[in-house]
Amino acid sequence: MCWAATCSPSPHDEWLPRRRTVQHVFTKQHVREFGGHMAQAAQNSCDGWADGAVIDLDRQCRLLTLRALGRSVLGIDLDQRSDAIAGPLQVALSYSADRALRPVRAPRWLPTPARRRARRASRTLHRLAREILEECRRDPDRDAPLVRALMNATDPDTGKPLPDPAICDELIVFMLAGHDTTATTLTYALWQLGRHRVVQDRLRAEVAALGHPDPTPEDVPRLTYTVQVLHEALRLCPPGAVISRTAVRDIEIDGYRVEAGSVLGFGVWAVQRDPALWADPLQFDPDRFAPGRAKARDRWQYLPFGAGPRSCIGDHFAMLEATLALATIVGRCQIGSLGDDFPFTVPFTTVAGGPVPAMVVKR
Ligand code: HEM
Repeated sequence: MCWAATCSPSPHDEWLPRRRTVQHVFTKQHVREFGGHMAQAAQNSCDGWADGAVIDLDRQCRLLTLRALGRSVLGIDLDQRSDAIAGPLQVALSYSADRALRPVRAPRWLPTPARRRARRASRTLHRLAREILEECRRDPDRDAPLVRALMNATDPDTGKPLPDPAICDELIVFMLAGHDTTATTLTYALWQLGRHRVVQDRLRAEVAALGHPDPTPEDVPRLTYTVQVLHEALRLCPPGAVISRTAVRDIEIDGYRVEAGSVLGFGVWAVQRDPALWADPLQFDPDRFAPGRAKARDRWQYLPFGAGPRSCIGDHFAMLEATLALATIVGRCQIGSLGDDFPFTVPFTTVAGGPVPAMVVKR
């Protein structure tokens, strides 16, 4: 898996069977079953905040998404080990992006400090993945749909089960892809809500109209404004700032010849902030995504989850998780952002490059 322009996507024949193996775990219908874990993760976060406390939205949202991902599909409490995991995930991602961008790369055998750090991080992640797999084998009742799907999968060429290292690689991909992205979307949405009281109050009124404080997947059709807020957050802060494809044959794009084998990058970030496509593009305005306004948009101008067969497999999972989390948090707390700038950085996906402080007032 890879969506930065800096890396080459895996070849079709390798990618397709893996995608088919796990696709059913992430359908819209199936992810609803994870709603309880997702809502619980958000409630736990709120319960842990003292009234009037200053929290780091980034750290809190990372904990929340690790908790939701771990309990929903991996059958493990990832948040208990967040400090041990978050660092290696970051190191592994930054190293691959950095290496791919360099015009001249040191040979793989050379033990540079960055490579030693990356290898340590990779060993930690592989240890964790093996542990997840072994615990699932030991306990057949453990609820871990992604791990079980991979354990039951067979290689399309040989008909044999996937070898353990291949299963572990896939588990690491999902930890990488499913954690930072959703955490940053939530962090950014909460930071914007903390600067736009009117928007925050409108979202809270939508949650209050549900008549109970703990939103569930059944409530999502009534959380339309909450979803609009998330769409606007994903427009201004797309975690996949660039998506990539490899040209499999020579093509011409807008008069430019592109040779087969070239890696092409599509600048999601730039397109989603392009003043030729969006009125007042830097303004945070969830009403852009009000029902009925989609028709006025070109289908290629808003692509936070990519497009085509290789688009994000976790889009329903991420949207359900983020909707329930945002509604749960804003229903219970008033968020006041303490910083005027969001510290964007793009080591691989777009993330907060530093703390995002906010004051929480319990309601
Ligand atoms: C707001 C959260 C998320 C965003 C914005 C996001 C965005 C993306 C983007 C842009 C791509 C590349 C699409 C393309 O090249 O057309 C992608 C791929 C992928 N995402 Fe997500 N993602 C999110 C959450 C998740 C979650 C929660 C999971 C899993 C639990 C996940 C798993 C993956 C995987 C496995 C791929 C590779 C798919 C493939 O190549 O078949 N993502 N994501």
